[in-house]
Amino acid sequence: MSSATLEAALAWQGIRQARYQDWSAHAALTLLAGQLQVWRGGAWRAKGTVTPEAAALLDHLLPISATPGRFVMAQLGQSLDGRIATISGASHYVTGEASRVHLHRLRALVDAVVVGAGTACADDPQLTVRHAPGDNPVRVILDPNGRVPATSGVLQRGDAPTLHITRHPLPRAALGAHVESLTPAGAVDLTPSALLETLAARGLRRVLVEGGGQTVSRFLADGQLDRLHVVVAPLLIGSGRPAISLAEIETLDAALRPPCRTFAMGDDTLFDLTLRSGHAV
Ligand SMILES: NC(=O)c1ccc[n+]([C@@H]2O[C@H](COP(=O)([O-])OP(=O)(O)OC[C@H]3O[C@@H](n4cnc5c(N)ncnc54)[C@H](OP(=O)(O)O)[C@@H]3O)[C@@H](O)[C@H]2O)c1
Repeated sequence: MSSATLEAALAWQGIRQARYQDWSAHAALTLLAGQLQVWRGGAWRAKGTVTPEAAALLDHLLPISATPGRFVMAQLGQSLDGRIATISGASHYVTGEASRVHLHRLRALVDAVVVGAGTACADDPQLTVRHAPGDNPVRVILDPNGRVPATSGVLQRGDAPTLHITRHPLPRAALGAHVESLTPAGAVDLTPSALLETLAARGLRRVLVEGGGQTVSRFLADGQLDRLHVVVAPLLIGSGRPAISLAEIETLDAALRPPCRTFAMGDDTLFDLTLRSGHAV
């Protein structure tokens, strides 16, 4: 059994291995040829030395990859004053390079990545895994009013299968072959829970809601998030698109205070919030 130093690249391999295990059938598993033992839910123990960077990765990513069943998380990169973009929608980049690698790792740990129409229009994001080894998730674009142009990269470039969820489907011929249009049945709006049911029926049970603020807020308000990663960058934008917006409350007793751990991420800080645990397998 090897007891070589466990560094970040190897830790990431272990986290990816964990992502493909059946955690409903195992309380604990040994990964990385015996170097890493992982318990369901993400606790871990390693043989030999572990670098601080590898330990931090295992701490904040194994709870995602070693949790059985449906798992829904969101991540936002925001300024100190809670903005995810300027008022004109410019968001490149609020957070630093290490946080971008983190986001790509999250994408590699899920079956589907969800963005709202606002993000698809403002950023035309690729939503692929490029800054870490890993597989691209299915892309899901929430566009009930058909705002996202057919010419956008996400509807043209076949980097990953793409679901365009809209009441105004675009002509088939205008879209790349990788795109499937889905129309929410008769609904005026698509609730996050209904959307997650639709995705689960297609085998997409591990979901990352990647933004923007309105979309993440809807999933949070609907009680659908297991985990929320808020990456806070040391800048003040002073105005612009807000991160989380929920219904108004009168006193701070009604504020959400989920269990929270923090991790340094370059110059940024990751706030890793557990919103739900022990959900249905
Ligand atoms: N810093 C970051 O981490 C980050 C991440 C992502 C995006 N961004 C930035 O954030 C900005 C966009 O964010 P945003 O909050 O303005 O918009 P957004 O969340 O991207 O999109 C909101 C829109 O998506 C549709 N939508 C979302 N959830 C839905 C649901 N459950 N059912 C039906 N429709 C749903 C609605 O479209 P309709 O309005 O057509 O009904 C809604 O208005 C952009 O500037 C982008 O660059 C930053």
